[in-house]
Amino acid sequence: MSDNIQTVTVLSKTTWTPNLFSFTVSRPDSFKFTAGQFVRLGVNPSQLKYYQQTDASDEVSDTALNEDVFRAYSIVSSPFDEVIEFFSIVIPDGAFTSQLQHLQVGDELLLNTMPFGFLTLARYQKPLPKDLWLLATGTGLAPFLSMLQDLKTWEDYEHIVLAYSARSTEELAYVEKIESLQEDFGTLVDNPANLIFIPIVTREPVEGALSERLPKLLLEGTLQARAGIALDIDTTHVMLCGNPDMVEDTKEALKTLGLVMNRRGEGNIAVENYW
Ligand SMILES: Cc1cc2nc3c(=O)[nH]c(=O)nc-3n(C[C@H](O)[C@H](O)[C@H](O)COP(=O)(O)OP(=O)(O)OC[C@H]3O[C@@H](n4cnc5c(N)ncnc54)[C@H](O)[C@@H]3O)c2cc1C
Ligand SMILES: NC(=O)c1ccc[n+]([C@@H]2O[C@H](COP(=O)([O-])OP(=O)(O)OC[C@H]3O[C@@H](n4cnc5c(N)ncnc54)[C@H](OP(=O)(O)O)[C@@H]3O)[C@@H](O)[C@H]2O)c1
Repeated sequence: MSDNIQTVTVLSKTTWTPNLFSFTVSRPDSFKFTAGQFVRLGVNPSQLKYYQQTDASDEVSDTALNEDVFRAYSIVSSPFDEVIEFFSIVIPDGAFTSQLQHLQVGDELLLNTMPFGFLTLARYQKPLPKDLWLLATGTGLAPFLSMLQDLKTWEDYEHIVLAYSARSTEELAYVEKIESLQEDFGTLVDNPANLIFIPIVTREPVEGALSERLPKLLLEGTLQARAGIALDIDTTHVMLCGNPDMVEDTKEALKTLGLVMNRRGEGNIAVENYW
């Protein structure tokens, strides 16, 4: 086993829908990361209580049962939290999440403690513009929750727009937490950013939420109107995370609006694809 891989224990689990859940694990003392980064998590089905307590192991072949499967996972919690939190999809035939969905408190997972990823605010050169736009679909919300629990983010910007798109209301996870972020973090610094949360639900009408996909909302100016601020090459950083089709289409929409990809610290747009 690589030196970077450590065993962590599941401390809590929250089920949002049959296909979405969050969980926390113990944090190894030496593990450090920057808000927005991801790690590789590993599961070995035979280590899960579910397989030990039931005859569910019949569902999994002997070889698969003893194989570690690793996947990239963004960290939800802040770099200052004592535990590490993750937000996961369940893909019924997915090699990783078809096992991970059975997690119970007390189960052990493998954590590669080498953090990866450049979807962090440190990638932008100073001076920073005044507005930060965080655009997510599904579990792509995770890195933005970590950033929004880091006081530095609140200090560095004037406005932070979080637009979060899911198919249905029940899949719009973490809404209560998002709604308390301004109070919980924004009050801890001088001149905090103003957080503007824009929920988007695309497959059912929901009062208070927008209903179109992000690229359309941007090109029509609906998102900017709801936020009450303009998207401008000189005043805006934009981060995109989640569904690769959303990332691609939204990137193109933003370029049409005059924004440019962030390279070597300069430019507006930074992205992370989940598959
Ligand atoms: C940088 C990075 C960070 C990631 N962070 C997260 C995270 O925080 N939470 C998380 O749930 N996943 C995250 N993923 C995806 C994750 O690595 C796995 O793909 C996911 O756990 C499914 O694994 P699987 O083996 O069950 O299915 P896979 O074989 O990996 O995927 C099968 C298919 O499922 C779909 N899919 C995969 N992941 C997702 C997803 N998150 N949401 C919707 N559809 C998906 C895609 O169509 C994919 O082709 C991240 C991926 C990357 C590259
Ligand atoms: N959600 C479920 O009920 C469900 C159930 C079983 C399996 N799955 C599997 O899970 C995966 C998807 O899960 P998910 O619902 O979290 O992710 P998703 O399909 O990425 O949908 C999340 C949000 O992203 C939006 N979106 C998708 N493509 C976009 C684009 N090109 N531009 C802008 N927005 C875009 C969706 O809008 P639209 O609604 O317009 O697409 C939705 O609002 C798939 O593999 C699916 O088969 C999902």
